[in-house]
Amino acid sequence: MNIKIVKLKNIEEILWLYPEASDEGLEKIKIDVKKDLEEAHKGNRVVFGAQLDNKIVGAGQVVFKTKDGMADGKNIAHLHHGRVHPDYRNKGIGTTLINAREKEAKKRGFKFMTVSVELINEGAIRLDKRLGYEEFKRYKGKEGEELIALKKEL
Ligand SMILES: CC(C)(COP(=O)(O)OP(=O)(O)OC[C@H]1O[C@@H](n2cnc3c(N)ncnc32)[C@H](O)[C@@H]1OP(=O)(O)O)[C@@H](O)C(=O)NCCC(=O)NCCS
Repeated sequence: MNIKIVKLKNIEEILWLYPEASDEGLEKIKIDVKKDLEEAHKGNRVVFGAQLDNKIVGAGQVVFKTKDGMADGKNIAHLHHGRVHPDYRNKGIGTTLINAREKEAKKRGFKFMTVSVELINEGAIRLDKRLGYEEFKRYKGKEGEELIALKKEL
């Protein structure tokens, strides 16, 4: 399988990764991703896509500075919005997207990477832990959801 990592600029390529989302859910994702792409344009993050046979089948962001301190603009970067289309999961694409984001952060001089995952998302937590991420805190998100924060030395 030949996965190519590219930088994404087009919102439609990301939205089709959410076939199960409701219209309302998709609208919210659209607003978020539009903001994310604007931030990427300013250089505050990179939005990567995983391309297979000319089709984007996954996406993931690396953020260099966040308000909550999960990224500090210098030493700590943050993984955000990792996503693989449901038809393309369990083929190593999620891992490839994490590797690409770690490489980008390292190239820019970052020493650590953080990620926050909903506690109920066991698959994603297992993947992050296998790639060397370790839990450092648990907290509640904006909607009261239980989150786990993990960190890795790059
Ligand atoms: C989390 C997510 C991005 C993982 O993507 P993925 O492409 O399935 O990830 P990988 O294929 O690299 O790894 C997933 C599993 O496939 C296995 N795998 C990797 N390569 C494989 C291959 N070639 N053949 C079979 N299995 C493989 C991995 O060992 C891993 O197993 P695990 O479930 O025991 O951990 C994806 O499930 C997703 O989009 N979930 C919804 C959104 C989400 O939860 N995002 C993360 C929180 S922000």
